[in-house]
Amino acid sequence: MTHYFITGVSAGIGAALARKLLADGHHVTGIARRQDRLDALSSEFPKFLGIACDVTQKDALAAAIDQAEDTHGAINTMVLNAGIYTPQDGKSPDVDVFRQHMEVNYMGVVHGLAPVIPRMVDRRSGHLVIMASVSGWMGLPKAAAYGPTKAALISLAESLWFDLNPQGIKVQVVNPGFVETEATAVNDFEMPGLMTPEAAADALIKGMDSNDFEITFPKGFTRMMRMLKYLPYGIYFNLVSKRT
Ligand SMILES: NC(=O)c1ccc[n+]([C@@H]2O[C@H](COP(=O)([O-])OP(=O)(O)OC[C@H]3O[C@@H](n4cnc5c(N)ncnc54)[C@H](OP(=O)(O)O)[C@@H]3O)[C@@H](O)[C@H]2O)c1
Repeated sequence: MTHYFITGVSAGIGAALARKLLADGHHVTGIARRQDRLDALSSEFPKFLGIACDVTQKDALAAAIDQAEDTHGAINTMVLNAGIYTPQDGKSPDVDVFRQHMEVNYMGVVHGLAPVIPRMVDRRSGHLVIMASVSGWMGLPKAAAYGPTKAALISLAESLWFDLNPQGIKVQVVNPGFVETEATAVNDFEMPGLMTPEAAADALIKGMDSNDFEITFPKGFTRMMRMLKYLPYGIYFNLVSKRT
């Protein structure tokens, strides 16, 4: 029996993941702002503890982590999944949108990691799963506010691996392609390889059970994106401009 602490459980990938883990009999503590969605999960699954919390609020998230451990015992696996995505037109950058993405997508993860890592180091065990994106591999159209937060998360996960792997703590980064959620509903283009949140959660659980540092899905799309990453910039800009 594992105690999972997941941020962003009220919708999308996080909600699908929480449901699957709960159905498998695990304890799940879930964070999100929408209380009604947390209540719905609690009434369906007695092993779910929902705590309404905004990940940008450092002290509130630390208190939620305390409450989770008081209720279900030590957190074995923390999945830092909460995130936002607002397409940004690079011709008219909105500073507030950029700042909000950093506050939620990047600092929201740091706020979750900071109270938990020392406890995992003391226990010499634990598992951290950081939700980034293929958008963190290279710049993509309309992703000027979102992409840099995901690039920062990939770098963060790589750095933490060096510090925490010798302490017996497993660190993984997740780089999904497109998943059909509230976040991607704003996209007005065809999303190649689009997955359901349930299929994404299955791939995520399989990846979390592995010892791979990086978890990617769906494989066809993410392999293609990785190849693009290594092309000379001239070819890369040309190919992506034509497809988007
Ligand atoms: N969908 C994709 O194609 C895709 C691809 C690559 C990576 N990702 C990443 O996967 C993660 C989940 O994405 P998704 O598509 O499942 O998104 P989603 O359906 O929009 O769900 C986002 C979740 O994050 C929570 N959240 C947002 N802001 C929050 C805040 N300030 N404090 C606490 N919780 C907050 C939301 O809950 P409340 O609104 O109730 O607070 C919701 O539960 C994100 O990090 C996203 O960047 C998604």
